[in-house]
Amino acid sequence: MSEVKNVQKTGCAVIGYGGMGGWHTRYILESDVAYLCGIYDINPVKVELAKTNGIRAYATLEELLADDEIKFVTIATPNEVHAEIAIKALRAGKHVITEKPVVLNSKELEEVIAVANECGRLFTVHQNRRWDIDFRMMREAYLSGKLGKVFSCESRIHGSRGVPGDWRGKPEHGGGMIYDWGVHLIDQMLLIFEDKKIKQVRCLCEHITNKEVDDGFKLDIIFEDDTVGHIEVGTHHFISLPRFYMTGTAGAAIINDWRDRTRVISCKTVEEGEVKPVVTAAGMTKTMAPRAEDTLEESYIERMDSDVHDYYRNFTAAIRGEAEQIVKHNQMRRVLRVIEAAFESDKLGKTVDFEEV
Ligand SMILES: NC(=O)c1ccc[n+]([C@@H]2O[C@H](COP(=O)([O-])OP(=O)(O)OC[C@H]3O[C@@H](n4cnc5c(N)ncnc54)[C@H](O)[C@@H]3O)[C@@H](O)[C@H]2O)c1
Repeated sequence: MSEVKNVQKTGCAVIGYGGMGGWHTRYILESDVAYLCGIYDINPVKVELAKTNGIRAYATLEELLADDEIKFVTIATPNEVHAEIAIKALRAGKHVITEKPVVLNSKELEEVIAVANECGRLFTVHQNRRWDIDFRMMREAYLSGKLGKVFSCESRIHGSRGVPGDWRGKPEHGGGMIYDWGVHLIDQMLLIFEDKKIKQVRCLCEHITNKEVDDGFKLDIIFEDDTVGHIEVGTHHFISLPRFYMTGTAGAAIINDWRDRTRVISCKTVEEGEVKPVVTAAGMTKTMAPRAEDTLEESYIERMDSDVHDYYRNFTAAIRGEAEQIVKHNQMRRVLRVIEAAFESDKLGKTVDFEEV
């Protein structure tokens, strides 16, 4: 979507003026489809900060919700209060975007969706990493057919600073890396393999410096045709593995760093002639020896344009009844159900079955 002209901007407000709330206000201030009426935050320090930044700060949530100029709100508070605030806002007649994770579990999600339906208002989640170029290139690699039948996609984010020392380290706030980065990477994986049904989920959570919440995890989403979507988030990695790696029967694609373009290797001919073995200290191998270079073809998927402002463009168009919201209820359900299956698998120490609904 390109810049939208001649559309009346929609009034909105941000609830929670912390790191991401600040990002939303800046983003709305430069939006071509929305304008900022103000913010609300329970912390007086944040209220003062907003005022210093020239932004109206409502004294209470009720005062904000009573403002008719506000057509939608974006909730950027810690995770455990998303559902409660969303329900209040919907009942006050606002359309609602929550930051991710949308809410903490399926039960909360169904409650909020029911209220949204009852009130005839839109409800969605800010899956902004659908605009990440690495993800978009990997989806293109999958759809290109250059890899033959794809049987595995690995998506990793490795940092080295542990879980942030704020509410993200606390279970009562919905902390931990599954709810933090996991939500993005699961949503992306389910979009790459949009054509497949999930069969099973297995997950192992890490607790390297935090015993209460996962400070990393390794998650496999196993699809009906045995394709595996492997997702890894680590916060104690001083060497990072590639951001994305996809393998198929006729090729592979790799993105080492999320600022890179995508390298694709396709197999031109299966027949190689005589394979030269690799000799190691303990013996030799032909099976694992590199392929003859002339049987392979290297190409690249170049980085494309991506404008995250399309998220609000879509949402405001959906409010006007001119588009369908981009992040749909069923997609939100599926991501949360994978998260629940991941927690269950980690607790039981085994792979768990997944039933699509
Ligand atoms: N989509 C993304 O890329 C992305 C990135 C970072 C954070 N997030 C999400 O944004 C949300 C906020 O994260 P953050 O990093 O900005 O946290 P933060 O701690 O920086 O900010 C949270 C703010 O919410 C306020 N708050 C807490 N309870 C409140 C309540 N009941 N009513 C009003 N305000 C309240 C706090 O005072 C604080 O100012 C989380 O859900 C997080 O997962 C999303």
